Amino acid sequence: AKIPSVVNEEVKSYAPGTPERTELLETYKKMYNEVIEVPQYIGSEEIFSGVKKEIRPPHDHQKVVGYYHEGTQSDVQKAIETALEARKSWANMAWEDRAAIFLKAADLIAGPYRAKINAATMIGQSKNAMQAEIDSACELIDFLRFNVKFMTEIYADQPISSPGVWNKVEYRPLEGFTFAITPFNFTAIAGNLPSCMALMGNVVVWKPSDKQVYSAQVTMEVFKKAGLPDGVINMVLGDPAETATTCISHPDFAGLHFTGSTHVFKHLWKQIGNNVDIHKTYPRVVGETGGKDFVMVHKSACPTEVAVGLVRGAFEYQGQKCSAASRAYIPSNLWPEVEKQVKEMLATIKVGSPEDFSNFVTAVIDGNSFKKITGFIDRAKASTEAEIIAGGTYDDSVGYFIAPTVIVTTNPTYESMTDEIFGPVLSIYVYDEDKYEETLQLVDETSAYALTGSIFSQDRAAVEVAYKALENAAGNFYINDKPTGAVVGQQPFGGARASGTNDKAGSAMNLLRWVSVRTVKETL
Ligand code: ALA
Repeated sequence: AKIPSVVNEEVKSYAPGTPERTELLETYKKMYNEVIEVPQYIGSEEIFSGVKKEIRPPHDHQKVVGYYHEGTQSDVQKAIETALEARKSWANMAWEDRAAIFLKAADLIAGPYRAKINAATMIGQSKNAMQAEIDSACELIDFLRFNVKFMTEIYADQPISSPGVWNKVEYRPLEGFTFAITPFNFTAIAGNLPSCMALMGNVVVWKPSDKQVYSAQVTMEVFKKAGLPDGVINMVLGDPAETATTCISHPDFAGLHFTGSTHVFKHLWKQIGNNVDIHKTYPRVVGETGGKDFVMVHKSACPTEVAVGLVRGAFEYQGQKCSAASRAYIPSNLWPEVEKQVKEMLATIKVGSPEDFSNFVTAVIDGNSFKKITGFIDRAKASTEAEIIAGGTYDDSVGYFIAPTVIVTTNPTYESMTDEIFGPVLSIYVYDEDKYEETLQLVDETSAYALTGSIFSQDRAAVEVAYKALENAAGNFYINDKPTGAVVGQQPFGGARASGTNDKAGSAMNLLRWVSVRTVKETL
């Protein structure tokens, strides 16, 4: 088979008067007034345990839009056994047939499921319509389609043969089962982690975040409707730490595909190490974790480009992207103009429910997150080293709303310049415009994480200096752009240092982690 040529899914505008806007709003309202029940999916079974946990929209936390049924560790055991059973046929299925399933899933999301998965992401994760569209529609569709393309490229890569010798490599799935742990902040990442491993012939136990179950269920529904055989991806909803322990301490555990916090990933890595003697094979460990993403500005930069990059990079999806612009270094010559423009833009930004499509910022994910983020704001208010120049207000009476907040600090190692906040808070350090190289060194030295970062400069020589000075400080480096919004197939995504194993989601580099290659030499 030859796959169709792949292009990125077009982002729909949802502008007033468009049919997609009407459809999405109607779908949202209908779903908002229903109460769904989310089961675990193990093999052919949908397991409604009866232990029900409420699903509440972060922007309206008194409203219950559904329940998910919590699972137990015997469910995880069952999921593992079911996966291993399904592996017998799945691992040997022709790649064309596996591809067909995920290409069909992409088409279902692009068409009949688009409004439903976007509405689910808006309700369950409080994304505005545009943020839902670029995530749960476009990025997920792109992952599904591009991964098929990358898979065929991998399979086509074969060794040379010589007279009398015939060589080949077989890209086999890992021996055992794989385990995906996924975050709340991207429906696309949550769908990609289990599906890309499955595409390569693996079977999966998938534990989504309990803050993402609403859209995770739609993803599972799509996979099933696309013809995914029972047991290939099993979605479990038990306690996350216990689920991880059950999977990692199983002899057939063959790989972890993780996106989430640095702290949890380090813990899992240690746990895997401690179990290495019982595993049949060394497990693959792939993690994309935290970030403290920088925007570095040279004195030659365009102030408007910088201001737009800061506002969009820091505040889209309430700053809850691992890639969000979180700390910025602005030269003193540009600061007055950048400050003015950032304040002007923020004055026009509306905060509220995603149901109103004109709201740019909606709620942060939950009460714990609200408390953590507002703690940074409160401490900045009390600090002599920090000044809040925009935002600083918050209100959790209806939803977990925090105004986009800008902190300016005189201390480049002030806590909000170094700690991951994961919310709508941007910290700025204004540096002497003639201390560019010293400031680049400072950025690198304070980059415990190395996920994304931007350089803004109209001077190419200054770009080159930053390029070299920050070579290890960001896995995704942007020149004159915000550090968010990597597009599948265009900017393979991932970071190093405390940000992860840098196995580039949305590329063949990632898929290669999910195969175990057998080399075959035949003497003719
Ligand atoms: N891949 C997402 C981005 O680039 C996290 O913003």
